[in-house]
Amino acid sequence: MSTVSQRARVVDTFRVGAVVLPSVATGLIQRREPAMGFADTLRLDRRAIRRMQLLRARYGARLLRLRVPGRSMALVLSPDDVGGILANAPEPFSPASTEKRAALAHFQPHGVLISQGEARPQRRHVNEAVLDTHQPLHRLAGNITTLVSDEALRLIGTATSAGQLTWQDFSERWWRIVRRVVLGERAADDQLLITQLESLRRRANWAQFAPTARRTRQRFAGRLGEYVDHPEAGSIAGLLADTPAGPDANPRGQVPHWLFAFDAAGIVAYRTLALLASRPDLARTARDESHDLESPRQLPFLRASVLDSARLWPTTPLLLRETTSTTEWDGTTLPSGTTLLIYTPFFHRDERTLSYADRFAPDIWLDGTARANPALVPFSDGPAQCPGENLVLFVSSTLLAHLLVARDFTQVGGHRLDPRHPLPSTLNPFALRFAVS
Ligand code: HEM
Repeated sequence: MSTVSQRARVVDTFRVGAVVLPSVATGLIQRREPAMGFADTLRLDRRAIRRMQLLRARYGARLLRLRVPGRSMALVLSPDDVGGILANAPEPFSPASTEKRAALAHFQPHGVLISQGEARPQRRHVNEAVLDTHQPLHRLAGNITTLVSDEALRLIGTATSAGQLTWQDFSERWWRIVRRVVLGERAADDQLLITQLESLRRRANWAQFAPTARRTRQRFAGRLGEYVDHPEAGSIAGLLADTPAGPDANPRGQVPHWLFAFDAAGIVAYRTLALLASRPDLARTARDESHDLESPRQLPFLRASVLDSARLWPTTPLLLRETTSTTEWDGTTLPSGTTLLIYTPFFHRDERTLSYADRFAPDIWLDGTARANPALVPFSDGPAQCPGENLVLFVSSTLLAHLLVARDFTQVGGHRLDPRHPLPSTLNPFALRFAVS
């Protein structure tokens, strides 16, 4: 094997810039609604995938070092490298990349994702312990089932009277579910907390280029503290107090990420509804498993549907890793501090290598196909894999089950999903609207 590292030509480094630009423009931390609409209309993600295909055809699948002045950066082009790099976190491939630290510090300076050294394993442990990472059904599943069913009923009521379901209605309900699950009943209507978080997240989109809003961050932390420091039994925050934590764990500092990540999950769930509306046969399969919803259910088909929605339109299109020391990888020497770019839409939607690239394919999550591909990583992989995956799949599949059992949904607004054509590479969730009957 050659040990000469590959360098992109300058023009191709610009191409990589054009690949990541749409993700940055639509908001990596807080989605910008107008930019999402724009990206959808202009099919920017499709163009980005094409550029990646061109780069792979030109350079092959090995790591491609980019020519960025003052920075060491490399683009990942092979599925095996995706798997290998994610498996080797946090050493030598740290998830706490410079860009992520700059962005997330705006609202979650102590979150595990941007933590390093001794703090990281302690914070990871708290997250896994409280989120029941390794359990398909969270220990609070009973409580969560009841409150999701309650909110679903209200949402169905609103949609039925209006004759339609809009993003606005869906997201208001979704946020109530999230606040009740994470913080308890007292927080159910605390929209201000979310408004504060959104304001901080908008700054986070600009990373180091926006000054920290210290007052807003303090106010947000104070308001959140009222729930976390006097937690309600039956909420996720209520479990924090009983979880043994190391001196650097900062349990309270983990909560902002949960709220932030649950937001993206609402988008994923709403897009799943659009996918199922476009495929009445698959909606029927989902309905068939959706019975006895008054007790916690695993709902494998709906979970697979949500996973596939996250594959088709990843919430984290750029997985960044940073080398913690000089690292030899597949014949390439990466200096310490090298940023590795994993652009997941390319690996999830490459129609040249994946037969299911542009169709809704929940089956791949059930028959082992997805597991066999190390680059299908909507929830990341390895030691920094999303610790909230099981919880969020449970919450979203339970909500979808209620909706599908109660009503029929027909898409009437937004980018139409037609199973006879390849699915769009960008799907603006804010424009999706359904007729309800
Ligand atoms: C559909 C919803 C979600 C998706 C697609 C998702 C996906 C991801 C991905 C891709 C990462 C890795 C990010 C990176 O390496 O830069 C991640 C990390 C993480 N996620 Fe999620 N996530 C979701 C929901 C949640 C929820 C609801 C929670 C908590 C309640 C959560 C907690 C976390 C945490 C704490 C990390 C950092 C893990 C670490 O650094 O060790 N996520 N998630």
